[in-house]
Amino acid sequence: MTAPIFITRLIPEPGLKKIRESRIPFEMHPEDRSLPASELRHAVAGRQAVLCQLTDAMDESVLEAARGCKIVANMAVGFNNIDVAAASARKIPVSNTPGVLTECTADLTLALILAVARRVAEGDQEMRAGRFQGWGPLYMLGSDVSGATLGLIGPGRIATAVARRAAAFGMPILYHGNRSVPELDQLGGRFCELEELLRLSDFVSLHVPLTAKTRHMIDSHALAQMKPTAFLINTARGPVVNEAALVHALKTHQIAGAGLDVYEDEPRIAPGLADCPNTVLLPHLGSATLATRGAMSRMAAENILAALAGHTPSNLVNPEVWNAS
Ligand code: GLV
Repeated sequence: MTAPIFITRLIPEPGLKKIRESRIPFEMHPEDRSLPASELRHAVAGRQAVLCQLTDAMDESVLEAARGCKIVANMAVGFNNIDVAAASARKIPVSNTPGVLTECTADLTLALILAVARRVAEGDQEMRAGRFQGWGPLYMLGSDVSGATLGLIGPGRIATAVARRAAAFGMPILYHGNRSVPELDQLGGRFCELEELLRLSDFVSLHVPLTAKTRHMIDSHALAQMKPTAFLINTARGPVVNEAALVHALKTHQIAGAGLDVYEDEPRIAPGLADCPNTVLLPHLGSATLATRGAMSRMAAENILAALAGHTPSNLVNPEVWNAS
C-alpha cells in the first residue's frame, strides 16, 4: 500500500518525530538529493501529503500526478519551486515555513556584509596560503560597515531582522518595496524608490521573493546605478540578480563587491564569478543551522498533520483553496 505521506528527501529529526508520533504511515526518499520531475511524478502519485524542499521542482506535471493530495508542504519560506497556480487549479493546498528562519537568515546576511566589506574570506586565504608578511599600513584595506548606508529591497520579516542588527552598527537604513513598514520606520528606516536606494546605499541587500516581477530585478541597469564603492548582498533567491551582469559589474569595478548565498542556476555559478576576488560566495546557507532546520522540518510536518486531520494548516500560501473545500 502507498504510504499517505511522502517526504522527498532526508529531513531533520524534529519533523520526522512529529510524523512518526502521528502513526500515519510515511515514506521518505532515502537519499539526500533532489528528485528529477520524472521521479517526483511517480513518487507523489496516490499520496495524501507531500513534504518537499526548495530543490524539488513541483511543476504542473508533478502537481497533476499529485491530484487528490491534501497538502504540499514546502520546507522553506520561499516557494518559487512550486507552481502554486497549478496546485490551486487542482485544489491542492500549499504551505511554507515562514518566521522560523528569519533570525538565522538575518544573521547570515550580516555575516556576508561584514565578510565582504572587511575581506574576511580573502584574509583567511592569505593566512592559509602563507602569504601574510606582517601588518602593513596599506595591507588588505576594506570598507567600513559601521555608519554605512544599508539599502533593503523587499521589506519583509527578514529585512526587518537585518535592520535591527544594522541599527546596532549605526547604519542609516533605506528600504524599498510595495509598502512602508512601521517597524522599519521606527528603526530609522526611510522608504524610497528603487533608483534612490541603489544610488545612495553602501550595501544593497535583497530580501524579495522570486516572482515574475522580481526575476532579474538587479540587472546591468540597476548595477550601473550603484556606487562604485557599494556592495550587493543576496540571501533571497539567485534569479533576482542577472548573474552574468553581476560578473561584468564586478570585473569592471562598477561596484565594489558582492556577498552571495544564492545563485541563478544552483548549484552552478556564472562563469567568472569564482574568479572575482571582491566576492564572498556561500552555498545557500541562509537557514542552515541545526535549530532552524529542525524548526522548519517541524513546521512542515505540523502543516501536513493539520491538513490530514482536517484542520486549517497555519502557513498556507493559497488559503483560498482550503477555504473553498
Ligand atoms: C530558504 O532559502 C528558504 O526559502 O527557506
